[in-house]
Amino acid sequence: MKRIFSDGLKGIIAAQTTISHIDGQEGVLIYRGYEIGELKDLSFEEVAFLLWYGHLPTMADAVDIKYKLSKLRFLTPTMKEILHTLPVEMDMMSVLRTVISSLGGSEYGWKPTIEQAMRLTAVIPTIIAYRFNMNMKKPFIEPDPRLNHVENYLYMLSGNNPSKAVAGALETYMVLTLEHGMNASAFSARVTASTESDLVSAITSAIGTMKGPLHGGAPSGVIDLLNEIGTAEKAESVIRRKLLKGEKLMGFGHRVYKTHDPRAVALRNTLLENKGDNQSLDLALYVEKKAIELLAEIKPGRSLYTNVEFYAAAIMKSINLPSDLFTPTFTASRIVGWTAHVMEQAANNTIYRPQSKYIGKRNC
Ligand code: COA
Repeated sequence: MKRIFSDGLKGIIAAQTTISHIDGQEGVLIYRGYEIGELKDLSFEEVAFLLWYGHLPTMADAVDIKYKLSKLRFLTPTMKEILHTLPVEMDMMSVLRTVISSLGGSEYGWKPTIEQAMRLTAVIPTIIAYRFNMNMKKPFIEPDPRLNHVENYLYMLSGNNPSKAVAGALETYMVLTLEHGMNASAFSARVTASTESDLVSAITSAIGTMKGPLHGGAPSGVIDLLNEIGTAEKAESVIRRKLLKGEKLMGFGHRVYKTHDPRAVALRNTLLENKGDNQSLDLALYVEKKAIELLAEIKPGRSLYTNVEFYAAAIMKSINLPSDLFTPTFTASRIVGWTAHVMEQAANNTIYRPQSKYIGKRNC
């Protein structure tokens, strides 16, 4: 067999999938056959159903999955105890990784199931909200089963029912980021599952992978950029100075998309539809326009456009989500893609075993 070396496995196809497809040249992202622009107005629960079952839910399915997820949001006494035992300075991604890891047990045996996937998906927002309130020295707010998945997350964080505009903006972001092909965290989940390890172990691997700043950490950099710019009048001078100094603009450019990131386009459209009088979004829209103009002028021919992180940050800022919850919130959506990948891996499993090329000394 011909042996190919590819640093970071770049360009290597390591699995066949029916979950999602990315065409970076055309700017297309498909979940189970549907372009994501067509799905952006569906609920988190409906698109999770699509990714897990492979087809859109009927009305009865949609009611059923909403009900099931709402019943699975609870924290066990052990999880609460762990949440209180972990050092206060521990970051939220490490908290999530540890508490999710504590769920392993006989009910998570091989093979992974949709019921297991639902439990992990349902409980992640509760873990985040519990720890968030604990850190703020506020009482825990019990999940409200009458609210949908995203509304309930926002409710548990603040104690208030979110407005339709706020919940809708976050729901669109979450739907658009549920899944994104064989990225580093989906790959690590699949590698762990390929040893016939359980779903909890695979998701623990994925959370640990998501935690790295090269994967899950970009929206905070966008907030820093928007804060530094502050007002539309300063946009051109700040962006020009950064680009001339050789700095990268956070929220622009993408490894795979060499045209508009379809998730950024869909998020932008949703924001424009429900914007109202929101000054921070007005600034973001203006910064995007200026940045694209200046990137084309100073970095011609590099095909640099807005990526999903830019509008993710704009949305999270506009709904006042604290920046240390950005990556955990991304995790609360991406859990759906990870669990779909693990089930797909289990259904047709081959253990992952690439090779390495020895370039060290030989003393023999
Ligand atoms: N701002 C300014 N210049 C950028 C840029 C950005 N955001 N992204 C890429 N470039 C420039 C590079 O400086 C390079 O210019 P050069 O040809 O003069 O050396 C050229 O475009 C190609 O850059 P490269 O880093 O090779 O592109 P890539 O496709 O490998 O990198 C990213 C993709 C995402 C790593 C890169 O665009 C980036 O760092 N973006 C900012 C961080 C970000 O938003 N990350 C979230 C991604 S979802």
